[in-house]
Formats: sequence, structure tokens, C-alpha cells
Amino acid sequence: MLLDVKDLEVAYGDYQVVWGVSLSVAAGESVALLGPNGSGKSTVVNTISGLLPAKAGDILFEGISLVGRPTHARASLGIAHVLERRRVFPHLTILQNLTLGAWHPAAKAARSRSMDRVFSLFPRLSERKGQLARTLSGGEQQMLALGRGLMALPRLLMVDEPFLGLAPQVIEQMKAVFETLKAEGMAILFIEQNVRLALSMVGRGYILESGRLAIDGPAASLMNSPEVRRIFLGA
Ligand SMILES: Nc1ncnc2c1ncn2[C@@H]1O[C@H](COP(=O)(O)OP(=O)(O)OP(=O)(O)O)[C@@H](O)[C@H]1O
Ligand SMILES: [Mg+2]
Repeated sequence: MLLDVKDLEVAYGDYQVVWGVSLSVAAGESVALLGPNGSGKSTVVNTISGLLPAKAGDILFEGISLVGRPTHARASLGIAHVLERRRVFPHLTILQNLTLGAWHPAAKAARSRSMDRVFSLFPRLSERKGQLARTLSGGEQQMLALGRGLMALPRLLMVDEPFLGLAPQVIEQMKAVFETLKAEGMAILFIEQNVRLALSMVGRGYILESGRLAIDGPAASLMNSPEVRRIFLGA
């Protein structure tokens, strides 16, 4: 396994929100982490990338425990995390945002090649490279956030709600980019509330309910599961 999360527990102070969550992603595999609002999806990925400390459990990346390692060390091992709500540096240009994505030595060495690749995936960014990020549309900012993640040359890409608030046309463009990345062998963990959309892009999924793993399995079986419908629509 590329990523192996074992019995993860996470708390904000005394307030525990993640309880015994285990999940894995194999090299080159696409997996969805699904759950309704507030079920703990972002808390789990933020803990995998090191933005939050684990209270208990283990997080292995290629068999190496990440627990206690800072975020930048996890990124240099090959984990990219595209945060919720398309965080980009608003007062920097597209070019500057992308350059900052390639900060660790291996990524820095490949910077111009990676930049070409991002621009070929997202021609709109190429057309606007000198523009400040804050002047971009929501869809373009999401493309930039993803592009910046790719600049770090990840082997595991974790994207937190990459489709949220995007127009149908832009969703299709983003999906096409993810399909390209998958075909190139990148492992992707999709964090989503939109069950149908996410399951259409992955082989397997995990569903969180109130910070606990409720159900997991192949995408096709989750798609038709009454249990999944209950979790998302209520009883
Ligand atoms: N900084 C924080 N301090 C305290 N509680 C928090 C904090 N961030 C999140 N929580 C709580 O943790 C729980 C899980 O939140 P989290 O953001 O991980 O859920 P989510 O599944 O990503 O939800 P969403 O779909 O809204 O993004 C929620 O009850 C939330 O209120
Ligand atoms: Mg979230």
C-alpha cells in the first residue's frame, strides 16, 4: 500500500471528531473518502498531511510512519494536499503560485518541466500566467490550486472537494484532468460530498458518518447501497 491509515483518532482539544478510522490507497489507485457535512473528511486528510496531529493510530506512507513528521517532510515524501476551498495566494500571480508549489529539492529541479505540464493540463492558466490569483474565477482558482499541488511531483494527490461550487462545464474539465493523472499512474484520494460524482471516478470508496467509518467497498456497490442513501439523505 502507498497510504495506510490505521485506527486514526483525531481531536480538537478535548473534542474528538475522528474515531478509529482506517483506510488505504494503493499505488496508482483512485479512492474516494465520502461523508456528509461535518462527518470528519477534512479532519482526516488534514491529519494525513500533518496539518493536525493524530491523537492515536498510525499513518504509513510506503511503510514509513508519518506520525510526528512535519507537513513539509510529508510533502517531500510525495504527498500533495489540495485544501478545501481552493486556497491560493491571492496577491501572487499564477506563475508565482505555481513556482511556490515546487519548493522541495526534487520538485525544484523539475520546475520548468512541471510548469509546462500544468500549463498543458490547464491552458487557461497559461493564458493568464501573469495575472494575480485573486482575479481568477472560482474554477480557475481550483485549477491553480490543483496545478500548484502537481508542481510538488506527488505520488499521492489528496484533493478536498475539488468540484465544490464549480459550473458543470468546469467540472467536466477537472474530471478530464483527473482522468489524465490517473492514466499516468498517480494515486488520488478524492474527498467529496457528492457521492455520484466521486464514485464515478474511483474504484473504491469509504464513507464516514459522524467521524466513524460507516461502510466501504467497491464504487459500484456503494452507488446502489441503501445504507449510503440513508447516511446522505437521513433515515
Ligand atoms: N478547528 C476546529 N475546531 C473544532 N472543531 C472543528 C474544527 N474543524 C472542524 N471541527 C469539527 O469537526 C467535525 C468534522 O469536521 P470536518 O471539517 O472534518 O468535516 P467535513 O466532513 O470535512 O465537512 P464538510 O463537508 O463541511 O467539509 C465537525 O463537527 C466540525 O464542526
Ligand atoms: Mg471538509
